[in-house]
Amino acid sequence: MARNVYGLDLGTYEIKVFDKKKDRIWKEKNVIAMKDKRYIFSVGDEAYDMYEKSPGNIQVVFPMKNGVIAHFDDMQYLLGNLLKTDRQFTRGAEYVIAVPTDVTEVEKKAFYDLVFHSEAKAKSVRIVERGLADAIGFGLNIMDEKGIFIANMGGGTTELSVLSYGGIVLNRLVKTGGEQFDAAVANLVRHNRDFLIGRLTAERLRREFGVFDQDTGSSLTVSGRDLISGVPAQTEIPISLVRAAMKDPLDECVRAMRSMIERTPPDVRRGIEESGIYLTGGIANLKGLSTYLEESIGLPVMTVPDPELCAVKGLEKIILTKAYYKKLTYSMLDEDYRWLR
Ligand SMILES: Nc1ncnc2c1ncn2[C@@H]1O[C@H](COP(=O)(O)OP(=O)(O)OP(=O)(O)O)[C@@H](O)[C@H]1O
Ligand SMILES: [Mg+2]
Repeated sequence: MARNVYGLDLGTYEIKVFDKKKDRIWKEKNVIAMKDKRYIFSVGDEAYDMYEKSPGNIQVVFPMKNGVIAHFDDMQYLLGNLLKTDRQFTRGAEYVIAVPTDVTEVEKKAFYDLVFHSEAKAKSVRIVERGLADAIGFGLNIMDEKGIFIANMGGGTTELSVLSYGGIVLNRLVKTGGEQFDAAVANLVRHNRDFLIGRLTAERLRREFGVFDQDTGSSLTVSGRDLISGVPAQTEIPISLVRAAMKDPLDECVRAMRSMIERTPPDVRRGIEESGIYLTGGIANLKGLSTYLEESIGLPVMTVPDPELCAVKGLEKIILTKAYYKKLTYSMLDEDYRWLR
């Protein structure tokens, strides 16, 4: 029987997996809840729902931070546990993992070791740069395009990649993503209203409002703690406050995009000026974001369909297309292995 192949896009917020044999893609929150710092209480979406609601002896841990693995053992445990549910990884399978480019070799190797030295007994582990997987994910023929700009705005990072003829020309990992937006919203609400809200509430505010559309008058009622009286309460948050909070972290992303375009070689840049910027990652779901970026950067911006699944769809295509698999994936054990050759 043929071996199964899995494609993994491990994100700060969610893990996305392509399962070749079952021919399906699934995702789950990258969160683990521990009891008494020793026992796994729950993992994935279930653990995320417990965040900020759990009793003192249950700690909710996010094993990744800003796109890289921060707690290796927890991450390995989480992956192992998710796989024991009906999702189950078959033993001795092959894995293709999408990794960020602009991180250290040690951080990249951690993605590799995560699977290679696990109880899954992987037959082989290969890695691919996420920028390439993203481009393939929305159907670009990367080998023939002379200039592609991808901005993957995720839960803890914004990864910018410039590609040309199947290779990465420039790449930068900006440590700003959903988590930083949510923190900015919670901070401004605290200062402006003397009202404490949690991360999940901040996320809800950001998601439920069309933060960048024309609407200026709406507001949302949220629960939290009134810092003056010290008791749990509800308050109304206007859209303008959420918008103001998001401005700084978002402008950081805009500045990074501009400076990357400035550094792009002229020929490649001409290609990008024709095709525009492709927006992927979960944050791309924010309504009106592409228009905001277009106005700030001065280039067309396209949001791809299902932006958070773009990279894992790319992994699917890479796994199913022999030529891509051969050209774009590497084993970190190969002697000639080097990034950005
Ligand atoms: N419909 C939506 N509207 C607004 N925000 C959304 C929506 N869907 C997802 N998000 C946000 O997108 C972020 C997650 O995106 P994504 O799954 O691409 O991140 P990730 O790959 O886990 O993280 P990273 O790539 O930074 O390591 C979260 O902050 C989430 O709140
Ligand atoms: Mg991601």
